Amino acid sequence: MQKPSPEAEYAFHDLKPDTLAMAAEVLAGLRSTPKHISPKYFYDAEGSALFEQITDLPEYYLTRTEMALFDAHLPAIAQLLPKQLCVVEYGSGSSLKIRKLLESLTPRAYVPVDISAEHLEHNAKTLHADFPQIAVYPVGADFTQPFELPRAVADLTKLAFFPGSSIGNFDPQDAAAFLRNVRHTIGAEGALLIGVDRKKSVDVLEQAYDDAAGVTARFNLNVLAHFNESLAADFNLAAFEHVARYNKDAGCIQMFLRSGVDQQVTIAGERVTLQANEEVHTENSYKYHPEEFLDLAGGAGFTEVSRWSDARDWFTLYLLN
Ligand code: AVJ
Repeated sequence: MQKPSPEAEYAFHDLKPDTLAMAAEVLAGLRSTPKHISPKYFYDAEGSALFEQITDLPEYYLTRTEMALFDAHLPAIAQLLPKQLCVVEYGSGSSLKIRKLLESLTPRAYVPVDISAEHLEHNAKTLHADFPQIAVYPVGADFTQPFELPRAVADLTKLAFFPGSSIGNFDPQDAAAFLRNVRHTIGAEGALLIGVDRKKSVDVLEQAYDDAAGVTARFNLNVLAHFNESLAADFNLAAFEHVARYNKDAGCIQMFLRSGVDQQVTIAGERVTLQANEEVHTENSYKYHPEEFLDLAGGAGFTEVSRWSDARDWFTLYLLN
């Protein structure tokens, strides 16, 4: 438990990712061939709640496997890191993972970075209340782009934290660019703790993204409801079907929303046409052998400190510096 110490500071930094840019990006994606939507738009309040449900599904092994790795190895990880630490979390989880990490590492400061300001503020305030001696500086930003860390953490050693195999959402080229941004943000002294899902049987992978209860289908379709709400769009969710399949050549699970009929939709006053059976690509989830991942990270200036995997070799946690 926490030792009593003077209350640390709380301050919110909103870098305002804006609606106009979102409408333009969404429209451009839906006017491309093939059509696509960025997976970062899954996470409105409903999408975040559905993702929490996904993490409990029997088919979705990722979260519980990574969590078991944290339980088993956080004490060892803490030993490998310096004391005056600032944890920078890429994507703010309401999850148990960050709590476990903060408990084990007791950093001086915690900087969650998230595109969704509401989600971010709520989680950050709750964490600050529960860990009063850790300074909390949430940053509202799209972390796929370079961003500034708050001045207050300048003198602390940074530990970037990117759990859940979220790196898998980037194409390998973008993942490399992202990792170079992380390297730049945390500096030469900084370290990165990252969870990465591995290549494995196609059946196991496809079931993890197309569960029997249909929760992943609802999660995928919800991106359209999110656009209806925030971009004044008029998607009829019943006119789309969830599709998930493993692309062996690319090494990723791909999700799509397949249009059931010829249809037109309006988004922010602009019209888009979809044909029957046309697929809108919504997500890639890349899976990496350790050699592949370390190669990618190496290209961004990271070297392996240590790594931990489960008994089935389904998921790996890397500490890099
Ligand atoms: C949060 C990006 C890691 O790719 O496994 C879960 C998102 N999509 N089910 C993943 C997701 C469908 C998840 N990540």
